[in-house]
Amino acid sequence: MKILFVFGTRPEAIKMAPLIKEIERHKELSRLICVTGQHREMLDQVLQIFNIKPDYDLNIFKKGQSLTDITSSSLRGLEEVLNQEKPDILLVQGDTTTVFAAALSAFYKNIKIGHVEAGLRSGNIYSPYPEEANRKLVSVLANYHFAPTINNKNNLLREGYDEKNIFVTGNTVIDALNYTVKDSFTFGEDLLNKIDYNKNVILLTSHRRENWGEPMEEIFSAFRDIIKEREDVEVIFPMHLNPLVRERAYKYFKDLDRVHLIEPLSYLPFSNLINKVKFIVTDSGGVQEEAPALGKPVLVVRNETERKEGIEAGTAKLIGTKKENVYKNVLELLNNKSLYDKMAKAINPYGDGQAAKRIVKILQENL
Ligand code: UD1
Ligand code: UDP
Repeated sequence: MKILFVFGTRPEAIKMAPLIKEIERHKELSRLICVTGQHREMLDQVLQIFNIKPDYDLNIFKKGQSLTDITSSSLRGLEEVLNQEKPDILLVQGDTTTVFAAALSAFYKNIKIGHVEAGLRSGNIYSPYPEEANRKLVSVLANYHFAPTINNKNNLLREGYDEKNIFVTGNTVIDALNYTVKDSFTFGEDLLNKIDYNKNVILLTSHRRENWGEPMEEIFSAFRDIIKEREDVEVIFPMHLNPLVRERAYKYFKDLDRVHLIEPLSYLPFSNLINKVKFIVTDSGGVQEEAPALGKPVLVVRNETERKEGIEAGTAKLIGTKKENVYKNVLELLNNKSLYDKMAKAINPYGDGQAAKRIVKILQENL
């Protein structure tokens, strides 16, 4: 059986890595890896950590790329790879534009598609944008849906997908965390080693397209006020490489000593940083899954989320992007110990770290 992995961004690489490692343990399975290179530096960081060497690199990245650029370059490049390799199945993970383009390219060639992290739905096609549409489009094309949770499976059943093609596996991100997070971890970065994590250290990330512009300014403005009012608070913000994010971050935080604007961290330090900070404020999808697994409260700066399990479990809270809401909720979590303790419980609604094993078994049984 010839399995072709296609991915292109940081989170896809992180969540595919455990599956690639698991498949490598099965000598009867042959695996090929093609990266689109939708991300460049942020993808290469992950490949390095997990020691993954792609067989094909379409190298489509260009600064300021549009959704059309990513889709069309990926489709063109993948057509050649598929013509050459003729895999039995193409595996994609998640909801980025690489994922959509890769699924479409396989569909055009009548190649089977397995979708890892299937069935997540926010219910609003414009939020997250364009990811909610990407996920739905990939579901239409996929032959096998690997749903992380029962909720995700139910979303697919509601949309009329055949139950025999839906498999609840857990999310491979938990497998990845088990690989990287250690309580004894020390950072290679001096700055991160010097921070006193017994204090109120908040980890902030933001990059979502629907937050570009005003919503991001509102979030950052709330943090600016909090930092000025509270001397006991420190913020670490590993900035996404998108210049739109970085310009805004510099505008609001450049003169504040207790906001550490740093480069994107490689997965090893980043996942261990989640494990050390007091809590997290983010619009990231993956971080919403990792924080509950490590017992860290997470305030989600978005209006909708497809990761409802963390909210239902009480470790995540959806707070929107309005300045007053961000300000109020961050302060509440800093001030209210019983609220903090209630949110800071380690639960794993997203899996038990065995997702990759399950997916490989399903592939063996079904192909
Ligand atoms: C993409 C995905 C999003 C995912 C995110 C993970 C789409 C449409 N979006 O968003 O679902 O949550 O990745 O981080 O698929 N850049 C670099 N170097 C890099 C990566 C990005 O310089 O390694 C800069 C470039 O200027 C690029 C910009 O960031 O134009 C945006 O990158 P892009 O992949 O288009 O979108 P993301 O916002 O990263
Ligand atoms: N991440 C990382 N370094 C960082 C920020 C995030 O390794 O500086 C990891 C994080 O642990 C998670 C993934 O990247 O596994 C999430 O990626 P991102 O937030 O870019 O995308 P999303 O999950 O929102 O699609």
